[in-house]
Amino acid sequence: MNKLILGDCLEVLKKLDTETIDLIYIDPPFFSNRTYEVIWGDKGEVRSFEDRFSGGIEHYIGWLKERVQELYRILKPTGSIFVHCDWHANAYIRVSVLDKIFGGNNFRNEIIWKRADTVKGNFGQNKKYLDVNVDTIFFYTKNGTYTFEELYKPYTDTYLKQFYKYVEKDTGRRYRLISMIGPGGESKGNPFYEVMGVSKYWRYSESKMKILIEKGMVVQTRKGTVPQRKQYLDEGKGVALQTLWEDISALGSGSSERIGYPTQKPEALLERIIKMASNEGDIVLDCFMGGGTTIAVADKLNRKWIGIDQSVNAVKVTEFRLNKQQDLFSKPFSVQLHKYDYDTLRYKDAFEFENWIVGQFGGIPNSKQRGDLGLDGRTRENQAIQVKRSDGVGRNVIDNFKSACERFDKANFEKNKAANIPIGFIIAFSFGKGAIEEIARLRNEENCIIKLVTVEEIVPIAKKPTLEIEMIDKGLKKDLREIEFMASAKSETGMTGATICFYSWDFAYNGTHFNPEILLDKIGKQTYQFKAGEHKIAVKVVDGEGLESIEVVHLKINGMIERK
Ligand SMILES: C[S@@+](CC[C@H](N)C(=O)[O-])C[C@H]1O[C@@H](n2cnc3c(N)ncnc32)[C@H](O)[C@@H]1O
Repeated sequence: MNKLILGDCLEVLKKLDTETIDLIYIDPPFFSNRTYEVIWGDKGEVRSFEDRFSGGIEHYIGWLKERVQELYRILKPTGSIFVHCDWHANAYIRVSVLDKIFGGNNFRNEIIWKRADTVKGNFGQNKKYLDVNVDTIFFYTKNGTYTFEELYKPYTDTYLKQFYKYVEKDTGRRYRLISMIGPGGESKGNPFYEVMGVSKYWRYSESKMKILIEKGMVVQTRKGTVPQRKQYLDEGKGVALQTLWEDISALGSGSSERIGYPTQKPEALLERIIKMASNEGDIVLDCFMGGGTTIAVADKLNRKWIGIDQSVNAVKVTEFRLNKQQDLFSKPFSVQLHKYDYDTLRYKDAFEFENWIVGQFGGIPNSKQRGDLGLDGRTRENQAIQVKRSDGVGRNVIDNFKSACERFDKANFEKNKAANIPIGFIIAFSFGKGAIEEIARLRNEENCIIKLVTVEEIVPIAKKPTLEIEMIDKGLKKDLREIEFMASAKSETGMTGATICFYSWDFAYNGTHFNPEILLDKIGKQTYQFKAGEHKIAVKVVDGEGLESIEVVHLKINGMIERK
């Protein structure tokens, strides 16, 4: 279930089943003229930005509406959606998108997130407007019955001083006094009697009031004043969360959470939303996933998830981020790119590969690993399929396949021959000259048609980029050795630069688990300081297809640097 998918969310969402998602959070590109996309330089983001912006607000709203309509369809009847936006378009999004699709009666809240106390920039002279330091998050549900967990914030010092101002002498417990007057008086059936000389309609029956008085829970601050009840601080849950969220700051440049994605949101924000509107095991979806904050938090909170983004950067950075935070007990996830990596497919577990490629071909894979004379599946028309996970498949494979088909189901073999249709299909990465000649001979001399299909005809495949690392010794800095690393990669097309997306660096690689300290380096240049001893540095590069390569540098630093 847990999936990262590369693609325009409109196309991807159309393929998801109706009413299957419990919680949706989206942080679509804002309708703003900020140029982060240009700085960021990712083709997917730049394109979507230009498309929207050139057409003005109407275009942007139309673009978003189509996608929100799909989100409405896939949301469960008990599900919720949170839409993160800002002043540029929030009024339009609420009225023209959310009210229209979800219905005004399913509006639950407008959350105001205060991102910062101060706003950088905008120091223009004669500026005659206020700086903006808030975003809006709209909370809608599909119906009146939905998952909702009330959350509480700790009391502030000011709140405590103002409200919990009494302390019990003997126990030291802090408390406040709350009213015991029955709301609505007689009309609501509250009993009327006298307590400590004051007659009123009370919230409690006389017998319950008696117990409270005996327990020392009822206090009259002065003779003649209305008695009140103690409420202890240690029994309170905190202040129920309200719609102004001022206690979560946007990520600063020095934040340890920062992965380098320009519009990355803080984990605390998503943690609050996910805890409030979903349960463990529920499915959370973010289709403008960016640096993967929603997905990373959903995974930590034991929710299932689907993350979609049209930028390769977003999908691969999220993949590395998840790998970094997951441990042995974490649930596996899959990554759907547009192309499959040749090496990964070529060296995948044979049975797993055979099943998968037969399925992609539209056939029915064999359920058993052995038997069926080496045949791996069949088409829906009952023609045999054999998979060879290799290149340059030769003549003998063709002959063996023909006799296997004949022995396995002689009647079907003869029927296909007579009907002049293929007796079966052989799938491989490539075929040798001998195989191609044998196919022609069988057709001409024996009227037996066998079709050869390459993996590339079934699924798009590409080769990983190549990667080289160079280093420059920058000398000793105190007692640490400073080294500058330069990574240079070439994509499959052989072009440097343009088709390489980013590099990630793990300066303390343990040989198995890539745990990058730097997730998103667009340039491929890093400086790092090492203690004397042995070190492994792993670098990954990601290309425009989302395919990656890893290079590991072994260093021995002891007076001089030795690269093993
Ligand atoms: C504001 S960012 C999301 C940031 C994210 N919340 C985070 O914490 O990192 C918006 C994302 O939407 C993606 N995007 C834009 N148009 C898209 C589309 N049509 N389909 C899928 N993703 C899209 C962009 O690539 C970008 O990563």
